[in-house]
Amino acid sequence: MKEKLQKIRENAIAEIEKSDSLAKLNEVRTAILGKKGELTAVLKGMKDVAPEERPKVGQLVNETRGAIEEKLEEIKKKLEAEALRARYESEKIDVTMPAVTNKKGNLHPITQVRNQLIDIFGSMGFEVYEGTEIETDHYNFTALNTPKDHPARDMQDTFYLSPEFLLRTQTSAGQIHVMEAKKPPIKIISPGKVFRSDDDATHSPMFTQMEGLVVDKGITLCDLKGMLDELVKKIFGKETTTRLRPSYFPFTEPSVEVDVSCFQCGGKGCKLCKGTGWIEVLGAGVVNNKVLAGCGIDTDEYSGFAFGIGIERIAMLKYGINNIKLLFESDLRVLDQIDD
Ligand code: DAH
Repeated sequence: MKEKLQKIRENAIAEIEKSDSLAKLNEVRTAILGKKGELTAVLKGMKDVAPEERPKVGQLVNETRGAIEEKLEEIKKKLEAEALRARYESEKIDVTMPAVTNKKGNLHPITQVRNQLIDIFGSMGFEVYEGTEIETDHYNFTALNTPKDHPARDMQDTFYLSPEFLLRTQTSAGQIHVMEAKKPPIKIISPGKVFRSDDDATHSPMFTQMEGLVVDKGITLCDLKGMLDELVKKIFGKETTTRLRPSYFPFTEPSVEVDVSCFQCGGKGCKLCKGTGWIEVLGAGVVNNKVLAGCGIDTDEYSGFAFGIGIERIAMLKYGINNIKLLFESDLRVLDQIDD
């Protein structure tokens, strides 16, 4: 019996040591200590042992069992540690590897400039009025002192939808709606799409404008100039100044074309400003009394100024874009570069 137990013990220890996985180790445990295991079989055979021998044999069996269990525990710990190490190895992260970058989206340049302008004007106390893209001939032209057969209509090749309705050619149409709906003081901007049958490197049949209108007591051209000076500094930089040139719009009197000092060369003359030191950026003027009166505003008491900014033009100048089509082709190689 003693030898048999010794044999089982040696055999078991060898088997346990050979186990190279926790699953294998479990198999070995069952084969020895399980219900049908070798050692269990010995225990079952105790009844055949002479009674005086039993305590001794019992003690021997227990010792054998203890030794086997100890070995099982030892190898289990070792295998567990190995498994953990292997897992750490396989899940190892190289923290020095360059991160996978996610492409960040950005707003379209026109939206960026539009939002920047809304922020600047908002800080000056302007409210936003959004007009409609389909207008009547009356609001787009007649009420803006541009009756039928007025030569100024030729300045804007119009898409007519019917003799009465058209795609607005200018956000100026919004001025009339605002003045009809609201008594002065009025201080609004009106951004939106406008449409003209015009198509070359700097013109597109659809483009974006931002109209401005201020009506109050004692408004003069000086107020316009002061506001523009503030505006261009915020858009093009602190050094930028403005220059007003006489112009003509039916709805303003006097009318001006506004130039900014070239923000690229500082006024010395370069390619951008075509050597003049100045860049034309918008049209403006003192609101024509005929327009105010047509909206029921007392011109003895009130006066106003108005302006119209081409957003694409500002975006092209600001971001160095030489063809307006680049703003409408949705080429991400272009658009990705502009994130102000
Ligand atoms: N509506 C003009 C255009 O589309 C721009 C403009 C000029 C608007 C003078 C104004 C203004 O409000 O006063 O060319």
